[in-house]
Amino acid sequence: MTEFPDILLQVLRRAERVAALTGAGASQESGLRTFRDAQTGLWAQYKPEDLASPEAFARNPKLVWDWYAMRREKIREVQPNAGHYALAEMGHRVPHFTLITQNVDGLHRKAEETSQVSETCEVSYPILELHGNIQRVRCAECGMYADAWEENGDVPRCAGCGGMLRPDVVWFGESLPRSTLEAAVEAARTSQVFLSIGTSGMVQPAAALPFAARNKGAVVVEINLEPTPLTEKADFLLQGKSGEVLPALMQAVWL
Ligand code: OAD
Repeated sequence: MTEFPDILLQVLRRAERVAALTGAGASQESGLRTFRDAQTGLWAQYKPEDLASPEAFARNPKLVWDWYAMRREKIREVQPNAGHYALAEMGHRVPHFTLITQNVDGLHRKAEETSQVSETCEVSYPILELHGNIQRVRCAECGMYADAWEENGDVPRCAGCGGMLRPDVVWFGESLPRSTLEAAVEAARTSQVFLSIGTSGMVQPAAALPFAARNKGAVVVEINLEPTPLTEKADFLLQGKSGEVLPALMQAVWL
């Protein structure tokens, strides 16, 4: 997609406050599966819900630890895609930009750290990881973060209290980090433009953010492969791959 409604380009050029919410679709072109894709290989027999929950960890901590270790390894091999870099550039062009993500892969941070733009622009922007970050590991008992641990075939233990370590991600049934969620709601409510990118809009409270923005008068733009429950309420649906649509949109608005 390279043609965009002129009104959308004008709104983005004038916008002082923009918020973007991303989901697994934004990382799909980096080679990471979305949530609603089937799992493959050894893990095909499990649904994410069977692995990403406190109950699953209590039932079989080693299985859950190994699943996240495999995903951490896979994520280390992949790179941000053009959509991640386009959002990093938007973050440096819009006076008040907030990036809100449901993804735990850390690819937005990686794009920000490696994008050329960030070296030349002092404007920085918050990256709100609603569901945590798989690269971070903390103690399931005392909550202490661990930068390193011993892989001895068992679930590694906390150096402080001896509790089992777990990924610093939000599991099904767990609540989101409160301050992160509050910052995301505030960013949505005060945004003039809200972009919803690569998310099926099925999981709360993230799925409510575009509606909160719309209720406060924001222009809502959806960038997704297919329509979602948000589509009929969005002002624009830019149907396509985020790794293609976002760079083209950046080009049309700012370059
Ligand atoms: P989903 O897998 O539910 O949705 C991904 C969306 O991205 C779908 O609507 C796809 O059509 C779309 N999509 C796929 N590839 C795309 C691409 N290249 N460009 C644009 N869109 C693309 O993933 P999420 O919406 O992120 O929660 O799922 C939300 C949450 O559900 C996850 O964060 C996770 C899961 O339960 C937790 O882990 C707590």
